[in-house]
Amino acid sequence: MLLLISESVQTKQLLLMMIMAGSRASSLVVAVVLVVVIGAGAASAERYPPLAPGLSFDFYKKSCPKAESIVKDFLSSAVKQNPGLIPALIRIHFHDCFVQGCDGSVLLDNSSISGTSEKTYIPNQTLRPAAFKAINDIRNALEKACGRVVSCADIAALTARDSVQLVPLGRRDGLSPASETAVLTGLPAPTSNVTELMDALSKIKLDITDLVALSGGHTVGIAHCNSFDNRLFPARDPTMDQWFFTQLKKICPVKDTDKTTVNDIRTPHVFDNKYYVDLLNRQGLFTSDQLLNVDARTKNIVHKFAVDQNAFFEQFVYSYVKMGQIQVLTGSQGQIRANCAARNPPRLPWSVVDTVVDTLLL
Ligand code: HEM
Repeated sequence: MLLLISESVQTKQLLLMMIMAGSRASSLVVAVVLVVVIGAGAASAERYPPLAPGLSFDFYKKSCPKAESIVKDFLSSAVKQNPGLIPALIRIHFHDCFVQGCDGSVLLDNSSISGTSEKTYIPNQTLRPAAFKAINDIRNALEKACGRVVSCADIAALTARDSVQLVPLGRRDGLSPASETAVLTGLPAPTSNVTELMDALSKIKLDITDLVALSGGHTVGIAHCNSFDNRLFPARDPTMDQWFFTQLKKICPVKDTDKTTVNDIRTPHVFDNKYYVDLLNRQGLFTSDQLLNVDARTKNIVHKFAVDQNAFFEQFVYSYVKMGQIQVLTGSQGQIRANCAARNPPRLPWSVVDTVVDTLLL
């Protein structure tokens, strides 16, 4: 199946969204969303938020012209083996950006130099190891092709981009993970109401429309029972449809199991607007999802996206690009990591001398 979304030819941005659906032996249709951008660098002002200084759509045009195609090729074959990579990568970019900005800090492992990994804190414990591995494998491929020029933070953005559209690049990697408090306050719990969600989002300059659009990321991917069983026990959350409740109770018969279910019951593997249709039918998974169709500030936006998929796509791209620019490090800030999971070792005095000599020789 191929779905084509094209912008006006005037803007010279032809965006192709390929929903590649393939059948498995089980005859279950597995669809992954890949977006191919033609005419990168021609982003229009209306479609994208203002770019943060130091970021641009063609940042690696000279230093690593094949960067985007390397990422895309890697992903299209990796996703065939593991379709869950796409939602997992989208979520990593979100967890990176909401806490201490999009500096790749969520990728760092525990170390005596950089400290405790963000991965150890509750909201990050369900980020998928396969997605962290994919980011590092891509980094190795990029280093082979171009040397150490593409940051891990940009790789996280680029891999997530392949399920979205175009992202500006030029981020650099942070030196340290965020603290537990920063992770817990930055990433709202799935039990949050709209006021609590907005408390977190407004601190990073995201507005109520961004909240509704970005929550649409839950049109793909999975969740563990303990992310939503507050709505099943001790009794059905009254904002949840009875049939949906019965289905979920079959998956999570008791509290706190580690079973999973899909985020979007209608089209779990397709990046579309059915998440909002779920909400209209009281079949949103998390409290934070369903309340978007209850709160007077968000309800109308949910309705708009439920009936107009293009309106959702346009707003999602806008809000996603906005999210991808939160407190980015650029220019000479931070570093370009040699391993996405570890800060670079401190530079020894003689390697600094080498660099100075190299620069003088150039
Ligand atoms: C607004 C507040 C948000 C809350 C409270 C929230 C909460 C959650 C939770 C609890 C899970 C399931 C974790 C698990 O049980 O395994 C999840 C999954 C997911 N979230 Fe969110 N999320 C939010 C925003 C976002 C945003 C902004 C995006 C991206 C645009 C996003 C994309 C995803 C994706 C793709 C998954 C599935 C991941 C996978 O399959 O591995 N979420 N979210």
